[in-house]
This record gives sequence, C-alpha cells and structure tokens, in this order.
Amino acid sequence: MESLQQAREWLEAASAVVALTGAGVSAESGIPTFRGSGGLWRQYRPEDLATPEAFARDPKVLWEWYDWRRGLIAKAAPNAGHYSLAGLEKRKSSFVLVTQNVDGLHDRAGSRNVLKLHGDIWHLRCTTCGVEHRDERTPLPELPPRCDCGGMLRPGVVWFGEALPMNVWNDAERAARSADVCLVVGTSSVVYPAAGLTPLAKRAGARVIEVNLEETAFSAQADCSLRGKAGEILPELIR
Ligand code: APR
Repeated sequence: MESLQQAREWLEAASAVVALTGAGVSAESGIPTFRGSGGLWRQYRPEDLATPEAFARDPKVLWEWYDWRRGLIAKAAPNAGHYSLAGLEKRKSSFVLVTQNVDGLHDRAGSRNVLKLHGDIWHLRCTTCGVEHRDERTPLPELPPRCDCGGMLRPGVVWFGEALPMNVWNDAERAARSADVCLVVGTSSVVYPAAGLTPLAKRAGARVIEVNLEETAFSAQADCSLRGKAGEILPELIR
C-alpha cells in the first residue's frame, strides 16, 4: 500500500481526475454520516427510511426527517475537504466531482463540475404534476409540502430502489472510465451503483486513492488508502 507522498505524486501527474465523495466528506461540517461511527442512521437502517414505500406509508414522518436534515445543512458550512476538491478542479484539465451527497456543500465550496448521483435535498418534486423546483426554506411551512397544483411534494433525491438520473450516471461512468486518478473520499462503498464507479475506474487503468476515516469495502483494492479525516488529509494531499 502506498503512502501520502506517492498519492500526492500520482495526483500531481494526473491530467484527468474523477473524485467520488460520500457522507464522510461532510462529517466535519457537522452533518452526520449514514453508517460509520457517529452515523445518523444507527437507530434506523437507511434502506428502511429513504424508500418510496416509506414515503407512501407515512409521508409526514419522512418529511420531518428531511426537514430536520435541511435545517442541519442550512447551518453547516463547507469544510477544508470540500475546498481542497474545489481547488483541485481549478488545476486539472479534466476534473469531475461525482457525489452521493445531497447537501450541496461541494457547490457552496466552489466546485463547478459536480455530478449529483442521489439528487439534491433543496429540490422538491411534485408527485402529481412532476414539476421540480428549488426551495431552501427551513423549516418548510407545512409537512408534507404542497405543490401549486395541490399535489404532494417529495424530496428531489434518489431513494433506495429508484433509478439514478440516467444522464448524470452516464456522465459519471464516462468520467470514471477516462480518469488517470480516481479519488474516493468519505464513502463506505456499499451502496450501488455509486460504489461501482471506483472498481470501474480501476479496471480502466486509473490509480485509486481512498481517503476514509475507517476501512471500507474497497480499501483493500485501492492503490493507496489514507486513513483519517477528509478535512485534514485532502489539504495535505492536494497542496
Ligand atoms: N473523513 C473521512 N471519512 C469519514 C469521516 C471524515 N471526517 N467521517 C466519517 N467518514 C467515513 C465513515 O468511516 C464511512 O466509511 O465516511 C463513510 C460514510 O459512509 P456512509 O455513512 O455509508 O455514507 P455514504 O457512503 O455516502 O452512503 C452512500 O447511502 O444511505 C445512502 O443515499 C445515501 O448517499 C448515501 C449512500
């Protein structure tokens, strides 16, 4: 397994970089992760909550959970890890940031080319007319929120069992296939299809650098797996 210095050299030499981030990159911004230690959902299984069935069963409970998360995110700020990735984008001729996060902190840190695989928590979509709009109010005035057409709004995010936005996924796959380096940060690498991007990049010839607090399902396959906090390691890695 290689060191931070070796990872820095690979990253410096790369012209095409794809970064894949998960909840761990926002942990130091005060947004709990889903599964790791201190995870948000330890008392729930993510698969039981963020599903169309849970929404159909009790939309108000699901919206209370999302409204709470929106409030948390509204008070959060990007951390050094987000800013490091935004800085790296400016230095690479080809840089694509693929995120599983719906919190929008990469955008707020200045990242431009961001592919949101699981949607955006600030988007609301009508379950009747299908119109989607951005609404950053926290808390929302009523739960579940209503569309002008009278239909019930849902969060504009991807739930378990739902398809990812096809155009976003295709762009993410293309970026993974053409990267010299794949930087995978703060994800347990257990939720597919997102978790399939890293092995895809590796099979296509990319060096894979992982930055994660704990060992993950992918760590053993990484060319370099750096253990620690994204907000501390990324500024060192991307100097
Ligand atoms: N720095 C780096 N890594 C961290 C940090 C940190 N400060 N804090 C936690 N981690 C690591 C944890 O060790 C864990 O391996 O981040 C990872 C977060 O994993 P998950 O909580 O599973 O989050 P994620 O991989 O993004 O989940 C994927 O699952 O529930 C769905 O849609 C949801 O997008 C999410 C998807």
